[in-house]
Amino acid sequence: MSFPAHRPRRLRTTPAMRRLVAEVDLAPRQLILPTFIREDLTEPQPITSMPGVVQHTTDSLKRAAVEAVELGLGGFMMFGIPAHRDATGSAGIDPEGVLNRAIADVRAEVGDDIVIMSDLCLDEFTDHGHCGVLDEEGRVDNDATLAIYAQMAVVQAEAGAHMVAPSGMMDGQVAVIRQALDAAGLADTSVLAYAAKYASAFYGPFREAVDSQLSGDRRTYQMDASNRREAIHEVELDLAEGADLVMVKPAMSYLDVLADVAAMSPVPVSAYQISGEYAMIEAAAANGWIDRRAAVTESVLSIRRAGADTVLTYWAAELAGWLKEGK
Ligand code: PBG
Repeated sequence: MSFPAHRPRRLRTTPAMRRLVAEVDLAPRQLILPTFIREDLTEPQPITSMPGVVQHTTDSLKRAAVEAVELGLGGFMMFGIPAHRDATGSAGIDPEGVLNRAIADVRAEVGDDIVIMSDLCLDEFTDHGHCGVLDEEGRVDNDATLAIYAQMAVVQAEAGAHMVAPSGMMDGQVAVIRQALDAAGLADTSVLAYAAKYASAFYGPFREAVDSQLSGDRRTYQMDASNRREAIHEVELDLAEGADLVMVKPAMSYLDVLADVAAMSPVPVSAYQISGEYAMIEAAAANGWIDRRAAVTESVLSIRRAGADTVLTYWAAELAGWLKEGK
């Protein structure tokens, strides 16, 4: 009988050995916490389909931002839920609108101690729930939407966002936002482009989180789940338009896409572990079917391994707490 020439198990013998040879790891700075601020709330409001996640009041949002700083998180992403919606999403470009005020409040609270990011999209602000405005036939009007995004970018940056994150998948959105920011003297405000964002069933819980008004789907603007090569095209366009970072979203069902993007992108790559990914693991863990902490850690690690430099995850704060404990 001959002995195996190669024994990969040697490098797995002890925790110290495994730690030595780990190819990727997790650090708080790589994590971005997505948050929701809802107008006219007096108490934080739990989101049923996302156990542990809330719609914030101004006060609880500010506390979450302070905690994020203390934990050393990389970024703090904000979504706003207005009390009133209309056809053009005008609350999104109102400096007194819920998201823009929240950006200013958070910036006043934590300054430059964490990267303050704002979702730049109309879906929370329109009464039809689409990411853009509609034409006479009810179709999402790309170029009419761009003009609003340009204004939104300037308002968010002036409120204090370090980074704006266009998530509407309109063609040309990064270019108009970059131009608008530069023309307003905001050349230092960066753009995190949702470059490859897919139409996904896993956004379900998010729609509850933002009280979405959408009926129908976003398949005329978000990408088709069948397509891999097209993601590279989307990323190249956003890079040419001036994206500072590019994102793939969702994460777990799109790790192939993420790996492709990470292999070609000259700028940092983010991935968004979305609401449905969160909800599935929470639900299975609540049933005792999986070990919650191990599953959460493994899921985020897999996104890093596929190539994400930074990960948007609803577990960002909890995970950072575990990482601190572990040290
Ligand atoms: C749209 C937007 C969506 C998410 C972030 N921004 C959902 C959508 O396209 O309907 C989803 C985030 C999540 O599911 O966690 N502006």
